[in-house]
Amino acid sequence: MIADTSTRPGPKGQSIIARDDDVMSGSIISRYPFVMARGEGAKVWDVDGNEYIDFAAGIAVNSTGHSHPKVVAAIVEQAQKFLHIAGTDYYYEVQVRVAERLAQIAPFGGDPARVFLTNSGAEAVEGAIKLARWYTGRQNIIAFFGAFHGRTMGALSLNASKTVQKAGFAPFVPGIYHVPYNNPYRCMHGREQAACESHCICADYIEDVLFKRLVPPDSVAAIIFEPIQGEGGYVVPDARFVQQLRDICDKHGILLIADEVQSGIGRTGKWWAIEHFGVQPDIVTSAKGIASGMPLGAFIARKEIMTWPPGAHGSTFGGNPVSCAAALATLDLVQSDYMANAVEQGAYIREALEEMQTHHPTLKHGRIDGIGLMIGAELVLDEARTPAQEVRNTLESRALENGLLVLGAGFNTLRFCPPLMIDRETVQAGLEIFDKSLTQAEQEAGLL
Ligand SMILES: Cc1ncc(COP(=O)(O)O)c(C=O)c1O
Repeated sequence: MIADTSTRPGPKGQSIIARDDDVMSGSIISRYPFVMARGEGAKVWDVDGNEYIDFAAGIAVNSTGHSHPKVVAAIVEQAQKFLHIAGTDYYYEVQVRVAERLAQIAPFGGDPARVFLTNSGAEAVEGAIKLARWYTGRQNIIAFFGAFHGRTMGALSLNASKTVQKAGFAPFVPGIYHVPYNNPYRCMHGREQAACESHCICADYIEDVLFKRLVPPDSVAAIIFEPIQGEGGYVVPDARFVQQLRDICDKHGILLIADEVQSGIGRTGKWWAIEHFGVQPDIVTSAKGIASGMPLGAFIARKEIMTWPPGAHGSTFGGNPVSCAAALATLDLVQSDYMANAVEQGAYIREALEEMQTHHPTLKHGRIDGIGLMIGAELVLDEARTPAQEVRNTLESRALENGLLVLGAGFNTLRFCPPLMIDRETVQAGLEIFDKSLTQAEQEAGLL
């Protein structure tokens, strides 16, 4: 299974990478020299014929695996009928069906919902914050340190994940305030893990500091948060923190926006990660896994909130019919099989990682976090939790050379977000490669 590393990337791949370097924007993080030729299920092949196991799923996108026959059939069938007509100007049923489906599964406790379909996650976030401002007539928005919401100007302004994402792009959209996010492993208030676990003060900070010293609560339109922080390092917050956010919103007439672009559509074993916390948001954003890789996103709001007038918001391509057809097939498969599989395989991966803590020094005091198939392993050098960023980076490279696609998140976390259809055998094979690659990375760092 574990193949010859000298061929990755092979000559064909190297030549395409060189051409890419010459012509594509250098802003793209093309850190992984994998040049795709084809994919099937949770496996992919590069242009030189090398096989890889996919624990990355195109950044948590290929929920049904690569080119699932039912998704491909739905795409072909729709493509033969029509490719585009502009859903903001004309009607077509496949778009209505996706909206009906999303309204039905929206985490609003069965309350009615309305849907706006977009092309991407960032566009869904943009729409959600526009709607929140419009509906409340307020301008300020609260977001979190560690957050990632996308690259367009509004979404970018909400980010506080990595400085490089914002450096050189100021001024940002005004009225955005960042506050600490619940993470007992690395409390931003400098408190011990046990203290943080028994009572996190992050939400108190909003009431006691932000609202008293800087921002009147009646000027705040929304609190936007990721129910599991994604790009920030796969951090699962405490349910009490999420409930406190809801309570603050209720107290002050603020809308709660759950950005589920990465965590939604069955990845955590429920349609939405926020459902694990027993809290309902007012607006939810979606993209990534929604259409198995076809570009589609959505923001879904309680019906009484999405009452803006014709012309207030639109998109030429949003809700593309081919993407909608892929979404319907995806939602069927996720519902019938893959959501349950995410729970089963996710539990297995977590257990395997916990077992590996006994023989990997960087996992020993690290953080293994996640729900379903959204799992992060934060690598550290010692008991003081010094980030093992270089080991993480080397590990990514060694894994690729050994035939495993796996992505980093945050500064020193490795994320496991394979297709939701992945089977046990492939999980095991991927974990073996991970184990071997981590050993190599630790050896290179002189830790073993
Ligand atoms: C939580 C979250 N929101 C928004 C986005 C932006 O999505 P897109 O890259 O489709 O614009 C991402 C992308 O990683 C994300 O993880």
